[in-house]
Order: sequence, then C-alpha cells, then structure tokens
Amino acid sequence: MNHFDYKDGDMFCEQVSLKDLADHIGTPLYVYSSATLERHYKVFAGELIDQPELQSPKGEDPLIAFAMKSNSNRAVLRTLARLGCGADTVSEGEIRRALDAGIAPEKIVFSGVGKTDAEMAFALKAGIYQLNVESRPELLRLSKVAASLNMVAPLVIRINPGVGAGGHAKITTGGAKDKFGVSAQEAIALYAEAASDPNLAPLGIACHIGSQISDLTPMQAAFARMKSWVLELRAQGLSVERLDLGGGLGVPYFNQPAPPSPDVFAEMVALTVGNLGVRYTFEPGRLIAANAGVMLSRVIHVHERKDSGQQFLVVDAAMNDLMRPALYDAFHDIRPVAQVTGDKTAVYDVVGPVCETGDTFTRDRTLPELKAGDLIAFMSAGAYGAVMGGEYNSRPLAPEVLVRDEKWAIVRPRPSYEDMLKRETLPEWLAD
Ligand code: LLP
Repeated sequence: MNHFDYKDGDMFCEQVSLKDLADHIGTPLYVYSSATLERHYKVFAGELIDQPELQSPKGEDPLIAFAMKSNSNRAVLRTLARLGCGADTVSEGEIRRALDAGIAPEKIVFSGVGKTDAEMAFALKAGIYQLNVESRPELLRLSKVAASLNMVAPLVIRINPGVGAGGHAKITTGGAKDKFGVSAQEAIALYAEAASDPNLAPLGIACHIGSQISDLTPMQAAFARMKSWVLELRAQGLSVERLDLGGGLGVPYFNQPAPPSPDVFAEMVALTVGNLGVRYTFEPGRLIAANAGVMLSRVIHVHERKDSGQQFLVVDAAMNDLMRPALYDAFHDIRPVAQVTGDKTAVYDVVGPVCETGDTFTRDRTLPELKAGDLIAFMSAGAYGAVMGGEYNSRPLAPEVLVRDEKWAIVRPRPSYEDMLKRETLPEWLAD
C-alpha cells in the first residue's frame, strides 16, 4: 500500500499535489511519502517482532536494519530512525549518514566485500553493532585494525549459501559464483580462527541471497542451511549469538505477481529458523522505500518516426536520473499525473534526452495519450532511484522532496549549473 493516489483529477502524494510540486520545483523530481515509509517499516518490523520464535534469549526484538543503499537521503533516514529503525551500511559515508540521522551505533551493521582499513577503523571507533566479514583477507585486516585500536571487533561471517535469487542476474548475490561471502566450510574455519583471536569477536553468521525476490522458496532453502550451520558451529564448541538474514524481499512493480507479504515472510522465518537462541537481524531496503517514492518527469515532445511508425515519448528525465531500466531492464509503471478520463491510448517508447540508445525507460508501452508538457510519474522509484543517479551528460542531479500530510520540503535541492562547474577546478596551466 502507498500514499500516491488521484484526487480531484490529479495525483497526490498524501495531501500534496504532484502537479503543484512539479510546477514549483521543476522536473525531473523525486517525491517521497513519509506515511508510506513509516507504514512499510511498521508492517515489516511488526510482523517479525510479533513472532515469539524470533525473540532473542535476552528478549530482544529482531534488529531491522534498513539497507541504506536503497535510499540514503538524510530526511528519509531520519524518518525511519525516529521509528527505531537501524541501518545496514556499506561504506563509511553510509555509516556517517546513519549516525547523522540519529541511528544509534548499536543498530548499525556494516556489510560489503571491500571495506578499507580506514572504514573498518571508523566503524569500530563509532561502536557499531557488527561488521559482516565477507572473506579471510578481510578478517585478517580487521584483526590488525582492531589490534591497532586496542579493540575487539564484533563480527559475523557472511556465508554464501549457494542459493541465488532475485529479479535480475545483476542483483543476485547468493549464487556460488557471486562475489559475496565465503562457503559454509570456509566460514566454519574462519569462525574458529576468529574465536582464537583476542581482537576479534565472532558473534554469528549472515547471508543475503539477492534482491527483488518474489518467491520464498530460495530464501527458505538458504535460511534452512543457515540454521544447519549455526548448529554445526555450536557442535564445534563455538558460540553463536546472532543470525543476520539479509534483505531481498521483493515489491510489486505492477507487471509481476505480488511478492509474499511480510506476514507470510515472518511466518516462514519463524518456522525455518525460529527459536535458535540468537538475536536476528533483517536488512530490508526496497521493501521499505520503493513504493514510497515516485520520479516526476515532463513530456518534452512526442516524436513519431515515419519510417518505423514508432512514437517516442521524449521526457525530461533520463537514465542518469533513474538508472534501473537501462541497467536491469527494470519495469516501472508510468502514470500520467493528471488523471485520464477518456480511453484514448497510444503505444510509446519512453526515452530520455541522454545520447545513448540505452536511455530508454520502456519500449512499446501502451499509455494514455500524452502530449508535450504533460507530467508523468515513474512509480516505485523510492528505492535505488535517486541514490543511483548521476550527472552524465552534465544533467544536474534530480532534487528530492519529502512529503508529510499536507507539508512538503525539498530535502535535496537541484544543484545549479554554477554549482556543478565549481566542483571542478582548473590546473594553473589552464587557468587563463
Ligand atoms: N543486505 C545486503 C547485504 C545487500 O547487498 C542488499 C542489497 C540488501 C541488504 C537490501 O536488499 P533489498 O531488501 O533492497 O532487496 N540496485 C539494484 C538492487 C541492488 C541490491 C543490492 N543489495 C536495483 O535497483 O534493483
């Protein structure tokens, strides 16, 4: 469920007209709904917290660590932080953002295959909940960094369970040949190695098998394996207090079967790995943010090619603003901001102004008939949208707006062309 609906002939985000926002701020423009963000977090967290099998032995609720890579806008993070949400981070930059948003260090998880020494040191000094270690070289470096700080690093070992899943090959992470984590066999050896190191505290294991997962079967298979490895580690006399099950639950992008809802997911988790005597962590990203955001764009013109008969809907947003279609052939529903009353439709290739054929949002899409100046909304753009944006073709980063009831605020302004030029400097031999 989200809070983007038609009212009096126009699409609104909560109580704010998207047409008014676009007229006022210009397009392309990202708009997020606080109510949707909050609802998604509360529903997901609530379902997991409600499962008695997922309480830790000390009676702690599962840690819900929002995967910030999906949307790391400060205002979005702060909205979630106020509900008690934690953060799954993958860089020092993300840890800094999480702390800035008011997320307590003990709710921050640090994942990723290539953490630098400096990033590890920063995370340790900040006192984060855990580092998810993905390889032996990383474990050895973490030990050195912790020793140099005279600290003990809280860590879990990321296991690649050999079960990949997800909406696209580029976002599948748990396959045996993907770059993430180590095999279970290696994890067990690493765990024992870490347990004998005074600067390392191995606390548990982690997995994350992919993103935009629409079927629980591979997740359940991976989680069942995780359980067997917890038991295996314990059988070897090692203590296991934590189990991090990653993110990955998909969202409806309108052209796909609806993914399992959080209650079905929570029951599956409780059934598969409940009552293990661990504290559980979940790292949802897309599930919370995707349908809490849209990207607004205006039609520049409609170009009908006489030779092929194609109609190109040329819009002012491009692949640099929303990369998912170009990168993963991702489907985003496209809706006119002004509610269409008639039934006139046309078949469009929706393209941006960037000079690449890849700058195509969709081909042969049947949409209500549109004309120059009309506004359209790319739905489900709140996750992996603005965060993945860039300034290719010297197009300024699209601004972001956060709505709450009838209030709205620009939470990241569009840079001016002057700002963009000033970020680069000329060497003295080119200065005049
Ligand atoms: N935890 C880890 C370790 C991850 O690598 C990811 C996502 C998540 C959690 C969050 O997964 P989610 O709940 O959002 O599915 N840019 C791609 C998605 C990349 C996902 C990478 N990892 C896209 O636009 O579809």
